[in-house]
Amino acid sequence: MRAVVVYESMYGNTHRIADAIGAGLETAFDVRVVSVSQAMPEVIADADLVVVGGPTHVHGMSRASTRKAAVQAADKPVGGLKVEPDALGPGLRDWFGSLGDYPVRAAAFDTKMHGPAMVTGRAARGVTRLLRQHGFNVVAEPESFLVTKQDRLEPQEEDRARDWAAKLAAGIKQS
Ligand SMILES: Cc1cc2nc3c(=O)[nH]c(=O)nc-3n(C[C@H](O)[C@H](O)[C@H](O)COP(=O)(O)O)c2cc1C
Repeated sequence: MRAVVVYESMYGNTHRIADAIGAGLETAFDVRVVSVSQAMPEVIADADLVVVGGPTHVHGMSRASTRKAAVQAADKPVGGLKVEPDALGPGLRDWFGSLGDYPVRAAAFDTKMHGPAMVTGRAARGVTRLLRQHGFNVVAEPESFLVTKQDRLEPQEEDRARDWAAKLAAGIKQS
């Protein structure tokens, strides 16, 4: 079975979570982890599971304006943040916009700051909605992984992502 993890990431945190999810899925799948700019339709065409995630921006999925703001914020010397090579490329909204229908199992994740989703927002909710709109069979509750106010992954979040994905894989294997 094949799984594809598609991620969008400005500062690398969601990228690291995507890699950890990929490692967790390897218990049951041949896995490919790809940035949204490289996730051409043919990459997911034969997948048995597609896991999609991105950063929470302004309470939801990123937009071109928030990605631009993220890059500008990283230009400030104080934060020491580095942007991903394709940070100003397409985001998940653009990707979904160019996607057909896929009756394939799927799950969504995001990265966000601490706090209840009512306060911080949650990109994974929007990702889940778009997955359903494109015919995907969403098989898991959306999951969020946490970053600090300085945009660094909280310790243990990569482990948690690996465990979440391993459980997802085990559930699919049994079904
Ligand atoms: C423009 C912008 C808006 C943001 N808005 C939110 C928000 O509404 N809620 C939240 O929890 N985090 C917010 N964040 C923090 C991001 O969720 C955080 O930068 C992201 O999870 C880091 O992932 P990345 O390194 O993959 O980009 C925002 C960050 C930026 C740059």
